[in-house]
Amino acid sequence: MKEILVLYYSHTGAVKEMAQLVARGVDQVKGASARLRTVPRVSAVCEATEPAVPVTGAPYVELKDLEECAALALGSPTRFGNMAAPLKYFWDSTGELWLKATLAGKPAAVFTSTASLHGGQESTLISMMLPLLHHGMVIVGLPYSEPELLATASGGTPYGASHHAGPGGERQVSDEERKLCIALGRRLAGIAVKLDRSG
Ligand SMILES: Cc1cc2nc3c(=O)[nH]c(=O)nc-3n(C[C@H](O)[C@H](O)[C@H](O)COP(=O)(O)O)c2cc1C
Repeated sequence: MKEILVLYYSHTGAVKEMAQLVARGVDQVKGASARLRTVPRVSAVCEATEPAVPVTGAPYVELKDLEECAALALGSPTRFGNMAAPLKYFWDSTGELWLKATLAGKPAAVFTSTASLHGGQESTLISMMLPLLHHGMVIVGLPYSEPELLATASGGTPYGASHHAGPGGERQVSDEERKLCIALGRRLAGIAVKLDRSG
């Protein structure tokens, strides 16, 4: 069984819901299984610490999750058109794996949620790709053979799955956004399983 790491940060729940949909797509692929992980918040107060294990939800990611995964789906809310600091903070701790090329050749995909429709979905997705490319990962996007990419009036991009949550997070994940999250997980896992068989 190939483990597909679905790693996300979510403050108000939108990206968490997307992560669960991506994981659903992963689990639709024979031979693949989703492993959901999150990261703790980063505090501006140096002494503040989060509990070692989250009270609810996915466990915190460890470097061994990156070592053990066959592929990675990475999700973040946008922060000024960029990846959220807690995820960036985690990636800044992965130099040891970068030196060993642990992630080189593994497929990766990205997903995001924004408050405003044109508030930086694509730039956030691309910002998440940057550390993955430095690690040598192979980026997997969404092809236009997914009909929702043309039909959507909210989120959904060829760079990865996205969701327009609205200013107060009041917008539910739309039908098109949901299908694209699942399709992304399914595509990522399908490629990971095929890569493993050929190699
Ligand atoms: C500091 C900060 C910066 C943000 N920057 C943007 C932004 O540039 N564009 C945007 O549309 N939404 C922005 N947002 C809104 C969140 O990205 C959005 O509400 C997202 O859906 C939250 O996801 P979550 O529910 O998984 O935490 C920002 C939110 C915060 C707190």
